Amino acid sequence: MKPQFLYGTAWKKSSTKQCVLDALKAGYRGIDTANQLKHYDEKQVGLALFEAYQTLSLKREDLFIQTKYTFQHGQGDILPYDPHASIKKQVEQSFSKSLEHLQTSSLDSFLLHGPMTQQGLIDEDYEAWETIQDLAAKGQVKEIGVSNMNLAQLKEIYQLGSIKPRYIQNRCFAQLKWDKEIRDFCSDHDMIYQGFSLLTANLKYLGGEFREVDSIQIPKAFFEKSHALSLLQEKYQKTIQQLIFRFALDCSMLPLTGTWNYEHMKMNLEVQDFKLSREDFELIENIAFQNL
Ligand SMILES: NC(=O)c1ccc[n+]([C@@H]2O[C@H](COP(=O)([O-])OP(=O)(O)OC[C@H]3O[C@@H](n4cnc5c(N)ncnc54)[C@H](OP(=O)(O)O)[C@@H]3O)[C@@H](O)[C@H]2O)c1
Repeated sequence: MKPQFLYGTAWKKSSTKQCVLDALKAGYRGIDTANQLKHYDEKQVGLALFEAYQTLSLKREDLFIQTKYTFQHGQGDILPYDPHASIKKQVEQSFSKSLEHLQTSSLDSFLLHGPMTQQGLIDEDYEAWETIQDLAAKGQVKEIGVSNMNLAQLKEIYQLGSIKPRYIQNRCFAQLKWDKEIRDFCSDHDMIYQGFSLLTANLKYLGGEFREVDSIQIPKAFFEKSHALSLLQEKYQKTIQQLIFRFALDCSMLPLTGTWNYEHMKMNLEVQDFKLSREDFELIENIAFQNL
């Protein structure tokens, strides 16, 4: 199935299972996770899926399940693979552990969580990507992709091998026009842009302040900052968060939300009943460059 929205499972710790169950109850059918115990708990995601199959009459094929392989530098103390093994073996071990955790025999999407270095690609990236392509060639995963890459890195990945990335998942900054260069590359290459931290990365422009939980910044409060956005709220009778998620859908993005709150889960999905006018779309696209 092709979801319109992804529910993100990072940072939920012992609440992961309940949050995923709530998200499925609220109507989310796409779940994003990673085999990276430092930030995600895939086992709990799997327990939630198992319970949802019993209690919510959902079937595996009703869902889109995506996870990631993370290089050792992005992991904590507990690794889902043997750090002395080759990168190829590490990717394979991580992948098969993910299948186990998520209680499934195949995945809808598997991402390379991030490159080895900030600029360019190196041998380890090529080896990981080649292994991910092999998993797709064997039919163990339907679609593959990358995350946290810049345009040059994405272009390079795109050149490699015959199985092309379908997704790129990036933190989406309003000051980069919501990653417009990469979004444009995606629309020219039959790729889908998955945007995360659409709210948290842009509180400066949307109006809000942070609090820090476990060294992660999460919004403490949203408040009215931009006169232009408050006019849009009135015009569409929607919240700032809903305007941003509608904007993301109008950009052909596959947005992620990481809310813990059941009401917010539902509200973030309630954006199908309106569309932004061209003018209002452009206003949000350029929000970082407006005189607020
Ligand atoms: N690939 C990567 O490297 C990477 C990195 C980071 C994240 N991700 C993925 O992206 C997912 C989402 O990221 P994110 O957590 O940064 O997403 P986010 O949705 O931008 O931020 C979540 C925060 O926004 C608040 N929020 C969401 N909807 C709201 C609403 N309607 N009203 C008020 N507040 C609202 C939440 O508070 P409440 O809980 O109170 O609603 C929460 O504090 C993660 O879970 C993960 O799956 C991937």
